Amino acid sequence: MNVKSLARRIIGDKLLGAMDYYLLPILKDGCGGPFNGQQFRQRMFLELIREVGFSAIVETGTFRGTTTEHMHKHSQLPVYTVEVSPRYYGYSKTRLFRYGMVKVSCGDSRIFLKEIADNHDLAGKQIFFYLDAHWGEELPLKEEVQTVFSNWPNAVAMIDDFKVPGDEEYLYDDYGENKRLCLEYLADVIRHLGLSLFFPSRSARFESGGKHGCVVIARSAAIVQKIHGVATLKPYG
Ligand SMILES: C[S@@+](CC[C@H](N)C(=O)[O-])C[C@H]1O[C@@H](n2cnc3c(N)ncnc32)[C@H](O)[C@@H]1O
Repeated sequence: MNVKSLARRIIGDKLLGAMDYYLLPILKDGCGGPFNGQQFRQRMFLELIREVGFSAIVETGTFRGTTTEHMHKHSQLPVYTVEVSPRYYGYSKTRLFRYGMVKVSCGDSRIFLKEIADNHDLAGKQIFFYLDAHWGEELPLKEEVQTVFSNWPNAVAMIDDFKVPGDEEYLYDDYGENKRLCLEYLADVIRHLGLSLFFPSRSARFESGGKHGCVVIARSAAIVQKIHGVATLKPYG
């Protein structure tokens, strides 16, 4: 065993994450800033918050808490976020400790969503979900979307790294056959739950930061109608 893994074993990943926060301020930007440093997406988030009105925000895939902090600061809403990596969890827990309304959990997003579906505080509420727990072979996204819209028909979900039809400049995640973040991957869930989809109304050419694509999804007719009033989004289909 080398010194690094020995230290890791003694100190533990969560504590190492906390140390990263204090010792490596350069990490604070996460994936280039909130919402990958994309200003148009940040506007989209604010518009959705204003037009739809939510009781809470749930994020899957905290990473370094960059977007978590941004969403809380700009909405003043309670934020629940979950991260599978103990080290990123330790980092984000330390970073977000000062915000009483931000709760960071360590675990798998699929289990976490099912647990909070049974949590009476959030059950039945109008919630904004930011689904961003994709980073590797195992893709929890389809199950996440299923759990969200089966339990929260009035939810709105924004999925990061999603292919925007007709705009090749927007980046999306591709983990191989049947693991591409695109319409085909979610087609059966979309059909089964009768979901409505919206994409950015601005071309990637005029977006800043990482230029990652996204999709915004809703189920209830009343919520879909409200999203039609969001200028940063355009309906699909
Ligand atoms: C793209 S990063 C999230 C970035 C973050 N939302 C932001 O905007 O700064 C993806 C994160 O999801 C986490 N992740 C991957 N699979 C997960 C799962 N099944 N449950 C929870 N977190 C997961 C990864 O460890 C990684 O930190």
